[in-house]
Amino acid sequence: MKMKTARIHAFGDASVIRHDDVPVPRPGAGEVLLRVAATSFNPTEAALRAGRLQAFLPVVLPYTLGWDVAGTVAEIGPGTEGFAIGDRVVGRLEGAGAAAEYVRAPTALLVPAPASVPLTCAAVLPVAGLTAWQAVFEHGQLTPGRRVLVNGAGGGVGGFVTQLAKHAGAEVIATASTRSDQAVRRHGADHVIDYTAGPVAGALGDPVDTLLNLVPLTSHDAAALASAVRPGGRIVSIATPVEPPADLGVRAVHMIARNDVAHLAALVELVDAGKVALDISASHPLSDLADVHRLSEAGRIRGKVIIIP
Ligand SMILES: NC(=O)c1ccc[n+]([C@@H]2O[C@H](COP(=O)([O-])OP(=O)(O)OC[C@H]3O[C@@H](n4cnc5c(N)ncnc54)[C@H](OP(=O)(O)O)[C@@H]3O)[C@@H](O)[C@H]2O)c1
Repeated sequence: MKMKTARIHAFGDASVIRHDDVPVPRPGAGEVLLRVAATSFNPTEAALRAGRLQAFLPVVLPYTLGWDVAGTVAEIGPGTEGFAIGDRVVGRLEGAGAAAEYVRAPTALLVPAPASVPLTCAAVLPVAGLTAWQAVFEHGQLTPGRRVLVNGAGGGVGGFVTQLAKHAGAEVIATASTRSDQAVRRHGADHVIDYTAGPVAGALGDPVDTLLNLVPLTSHDAAALASAVRPGGRIVSIATPVEPPADLGVRAVHMIARNDVAHLAALVELVDAGKVALDISASHPLSDLADVHRLSEAGRIRGKVIIIP
């Protein structure tokens, strides 16, 4: 049996994404075959597609895109336990991608999908949610009363960061342009600064305890934001590194998120408890994936986008 995929055979612009028909894979030991309900777009995959990640995240071509998966178990690999046909699951894949009708997945990467949202929507949780979780709780160590600047709150990761920072009890100052202002406020931001209206640091008032930076920055903008952090504060960046100001005891971390099913399960619980909402701005068929990459590279995507095979 054949299935549709979105794969790259070479690195380059979005036109390298091809829709190949390939055999449906069979699950191995410790794996299941998932019928993909949806994957979601993550801009880091556009960097991978362009070949910019080969130095530290090398992939073998042809490569099927789609790190996030939400789907149902369609087949169980030999000796695989704890899963049944029809189970709804979510996970962050490593290697084989979910921009396809089916994908085989190690069960160690999967958790039950949230029951309170459509399965397709759950696909936005893994990469963006795990990154946000680790930025807020592990590296940011946000606690009640902390004053935190979330730079890039309108993006896919930013929606989760804002909500998790509020969940941690922090006072959240978010940067967003007018198109994301309402969403960011819905996520609980206490103050919103329009980053398109002028320098963010100038609009901030008092220094912040923590800067969570979620967007690529020029060195000038990075230095300006870093100067808004109080002595002894913290900087966490998931995009370009942000150097701390000299001699003020500010700790800076440039983080790369890791796969962690305990964190993913905790996120699922928060979704089902109504404490974390999914900020989905669009849904596209798999055949539009190249256009989604182009929209992202033109800065025309906000929130999360789901891709349906
Ligand atoms: N280190 C890691 O492990 C890791 C993991 C995931 C992602 N990332 C990286 O983190 C970045 C964010 O990922 P994402 O999925 O959230 O991206 P995204 O959804 O594409 O983010 C787009 C958002 O960025 C906001 N933005 C753009 N320029 C801005 C600026 N100068 N100031 C403030 N906000 C700005 C826009 O907000 P408005 O709508 O308000 O204009 C837009 O909605 C990407 O560079 C991605 O590659 C890193």
